[in-house]
Amino acid sequence: MKVSPSLLSGNFADLRPDLEMINRSEADYLHLDVMDGVFVPNISFGFPVMKSVAKVCRKPLDVHLMIVEPDKWISQVRDLGAEIMNVHQEACPHLHSVVQRIHRAEMKAGVTINPATPVSTLVDIIEDVDLVLIMSVNPGFGGQPFIAHSVKKVQELRRLIDETGSKAVIEVDGGVNAETGKLLAEAGADILVAGSYVFGAPDPEEAIRTLARL
Ligand code: DX5
Ligand code: ZN
Repeated sequence: MKVSPSLLSGNFADLRPDLEMINRSEADYLHLDVMDGVFVPNISFGFPVMKSVAKVCRKPLDVHLMIVEPDKWISQVRDLGAEIMNVHQEACPHLHSVVQRIHRAEMKAGVTINPATPVSTLVDIIEDVDLVLIMSVNPGFGGQPFIAHSVKKVQELRRLIDETGSKAVIEVDGGVNAETGKLLAEAGADILVAGSYVFGAPDPEEAIRTLARL
């Protein structure tokens, strides 16, 4: 299992030790949660913070934009050196166009769906995307309980990907821990995002290793 620890649960007064822990760990990515107070009822951090983070972080950046009009920021995300740019399906009326533009900026295009957005809404885009991010909580806050129905959505998405021959990988975000992570692994997830499970653990590197072994 690939692991993308979410910096949202890090220590914002002193991120360097958290970033050095992630650099040393078995993490495959660093997950960065951008919130605008409009698409989601919270504000996190923006480009000045992410630029500083990118200088210290040696893992590929997995940027999750919980904002309206995410396509306005494609070049700024590319300038961070991000590997994955995740936009919400619900925030993009012209999703196909946004995916093409992310590709032209030489990033992997991720499409994210909220808990109440059906997997079936991805039927006409699945062959164009590199990643689908299934939200297993309502986006906006770390530390929320896992929505159990998400496991069924991962199974359904796995079937859709296999049937279409899409190259998309499946990432899941929200309430991930060793128990929910195991269910998601069995359902066909490829990448797990984890914030509070990692940063709230007595040994965060060990928590990352536990998820990586699933
Ligand atoms: C929530 C964010 C998540 C968040 C997950 O809106 O997208 O990435 O950091 O936090 P946990 O793992 O604590 O649910
Ligand atoms: Zn996220």
